[in-house]
Amino acid sequence: MTLYNFSAGPAILPKSVVEKAREGLADLDGTGIGVMEHSHRGKAFLAVYERAEAACRRLAGVSDDYDVLFLQGGASSQFFTVPANFLAADQTADYLVTGSWSQKAVKEAERYGSVHTVCSSEDRNFCYVPAERRYSDAPVYVHFTSNNTIYGTEFREEPAVPDGAFLVCDASSDVFSRPLDVSKYGLLYAGAQKNLGPSGVTLVLVRKDLVERGSSDLPTMLQYRTHASKQSMYNTPPTFGIFAMGLVFEWIEEQGGLAAMAEHNAAKAKPLYDFLERSELFTPTADADSRSLMNVTFVTGDEATDKTVVEQATAAGFDGLKGHRSVGGLRASIYNAFPPEGVTDLVAFLEEFERTHG
Ligand SMILES: Cc1ncc(COP(=O)(O)O)c(C=O)c1O
Repeated sequence: MTLYNFSAGPAILPKSVVEKAREGLADLDGTGIGVMEHSHRGKAFLAVYERAEAACRRLAGVSDDYDVLFLQGGASSQFFTVPANFLAADQTADYLVTGSWSQKAVKEAERYGSVHTVCSSEDRNFCYVPAERRYSDAPVYVHFTSNNTIYGTEFREEPAVPDGAFLVCDASSDVFSRPLDVSKYGLLYAGAQKNLGPSGVTLVLVRKDLVERGSSDLPTMLQYRTHASKQSMYNTPPTFGIFAMGLVFEWIEEQGGLAAMAEHNAAKAKPLYDFLERSELFTPTADADSRSLMNVTFVTGDEATDKTVVEQATAAGFDGLKGHRSVGGLRASIYNAFPPEGVTDLVAFLEEFERTHG
């Protein structure tokens, strides 16, 4: 039986990456010492670090105006690190609220300054990305979550940003799944464990002038300048995670880069959305114009049936399909590394389920 991993994160990684990581675990680049056992200050790991950073810069066209940081604490730590650095008590930051990760980001920002809600899709359990947006007069920055992992929605393009503000993005669940114009962003962060590698490392792309602007009245580890000035090595960095992320960046390059990734992802999700459109049993939960290419969420409308589908799918080798508890139903997470045949096989399984249970 073929086993397909639909986990929302940590998630499937490219096979070739896992194999190279396995070799590196035992012996990094012929040094006779495994990557986890090398000093982060030694030549061998520095080479790993520089390769990862260079591949990241090539992939997304990250210019020298930006720092590339590999941090710890997950995307959740960026929820407070961003406002801690940039939002003073008498200032306002604008947030687009499109799911519970955005809500969590808002909650942390409120500890530091005022938060203005530009838009919210909470009225319909976050099943869409609102088109109508109202900004505050002079926000410091605008924050959005490019892909809403739990609700299966995704921004088609970056939101507008009022003059004088900069754009901040939580791109945890769709980073490097499509082309990225980094110059539109002041800061972009992403936990690695969906599209980039193992959990425990967070990629941050941040404009250098913002790094300088950040508050210096913070614990050292909370200041971006600390990490930017020390190649993310002020303290011991997550060496294995950085190594694996570098391998993933190189794998994406081998696939043809971000434009090719976007094509693959669109072609991969299409058969599943097409099936959900024609199915009389299953319904996609997200509005058509907001659907995510990374997390496809759907329901039968009956909890017991959803449960049966998940049970039978799991037994048939489709692992990790249970929807997040706040939405229920099913969720197929089909990040960059997920194989297209896993989607077509799933469609065949769902079709058969519908034929026998519909
Ligand atoms: C969009 C988004 N933001 C933030 C997080 C939280 O990430 P972490 O667990 O790395 O803190 C997740 C995790 O699933 C997510 O999907």
